[in-house]
Amino acid sequence: MSNGICRICGGTVKETVNLGRQPSGNGFPLPHEIEHERSFPLSAGTCDSCTMFQLLDDVPSEAKYRDEYPYHASGSAVHRAHFEANARRFLETELTGPDAFIVEIGSNDGVMLATIAQAGVRHLGVEPCREVADVARGRGIQVLGEFFNENTAAAIRAEHGPANMVFGANCIAHIVDLRRLLQGIDTLLTPDGVFIFEEPYLGSVIAQNAFDMIYDEHVHIFSVRSIKAMAELAGFELVNAEPVPLHGGTMRYTIARPSRRAVAPAVAEFLAQEREQRLAEHGTIEKFAAAVRKIREDLTGLLGDLRAQGKRVVGYGAPAKVTTVTNYCGIGTELIPFVVDSTPSKQGRLVAGSHIPVLEPGAFSADHPDYAVLFAWNHAEEIMAKEQAFRERGGRWILYVPDVHIV
Ligand code: TMP
Ligand code: ZN
Repeated sequence: MSNGICRICGGTVKETVNLGRQPSGNGFPLPHEIEHERSFPLSAGTCDSCTMFQLLDDVPSEAKYRDEYPYHASGSAVHRAHFEANARRFLETELTGPDAFIVEIGSNDGVMLATIAQAGVRHLGVEPCREVADVARGRGIQVLGEFFNENTAAAIRAEHGPANMVFGANCIAHIVDLRRLLQGIDTLLTPDGVFIFEEPYLGSVIAQNAFDMIYDEHVHIFSVRSIKAMAELAGFELVNAEPVPLHGGTMRYTIARPSRRAVAPAVAEFLAQEREQRLAEHGTIEKFAAAVRKIREDLTGLLGDLRAQGKRVVGYGAPAKVTTVTNYCGIGTELIPFVVDSTPSKQGRLVAGSHIPVLEPGAFSADHPDYAVLFAWNHAEEIMAKEQAFRERGGRWILYVPDVHIV
């Protein structure tokens, strides 16, 4: 166990969770690419001073974000409805002025901006991964194909003027240098503007033992306390925190310039709740790490038993989480011959490291297995509703968070 230096405040990050060496979570190599596969240490811990939970090591960004980045945010009906509702709310609250302008960092396939574009409101998505950016452009959305940083922010301001709001979902926690990010936000926002972002919530990750939320892209996992500290270090103020029921537990944060907006009571409420949960304490993360080791033991034990009984087990969903779970637990095709996923750009590829093939969902429904490990557990309701026939024929789902159980 080694310690690291906090990316936010320069404090000491104590390594408390170690998931071994891992390839990039969204790597999904083609079969001929696996000889060039790279792996990196994956361990994490909390900063002694600002309490930001973060990875100890950096994976080079070119190993994480390729032109063919396979994650499409529109892949879930629940997510589509959520981001459309977000956009409608932004149109009614932050974007009411005659020349309102919104910038979205990591706009992916345009799942949120589509509604903004339809409303005829000025917008710009910033998305370095070409394939998903092109999908958004095809929907009539303006996209700049770059990583967001203070240079891009200055260029956007010079061309379009200041933004009334900047939004980001499931990408802000990916940014290695959040200090530079906030400099960019400072450059870009109007005096009364807000930066709103929603990201997986550390409180939920810990409560659910969701260790598979830890992968190379998730450089940080935010809490209300760590975001408040980060905002203040950068000369901003955290003015709201709202829970969002996505990705197994997400928090939406609103940051503004100091004293420009009323601070919602939720900020103090979540800070008190996090204190009660001892979320910032190393001991809490050590307990989580012990629960994760038990999940590994139980899951490999169960899959080994089922194989011995001659049962057929496959995986359902190929989120980046499947990479963490299968590599940490040492699960390969001998235990799970394939996983299915509805994203066309993942099909025909392999889970990085464990090399389990990703097939289309038809491979599951055409010949139901006895058991399916639900790697996309955060979409359980949507997937179980869609795959009712599996259960009706006696199939059973295996879940591994918060512990290994069969439903
Ligand atoms: P996520 O957990 O990062 O959102 O990824 C979920 C993955 O699960 C994504 O690759 C799409 C896939 N998926 C299905 O295969 N079928 C479904 O019904 C849903 C909702 C998602
Ligand atoms: Zn720190």
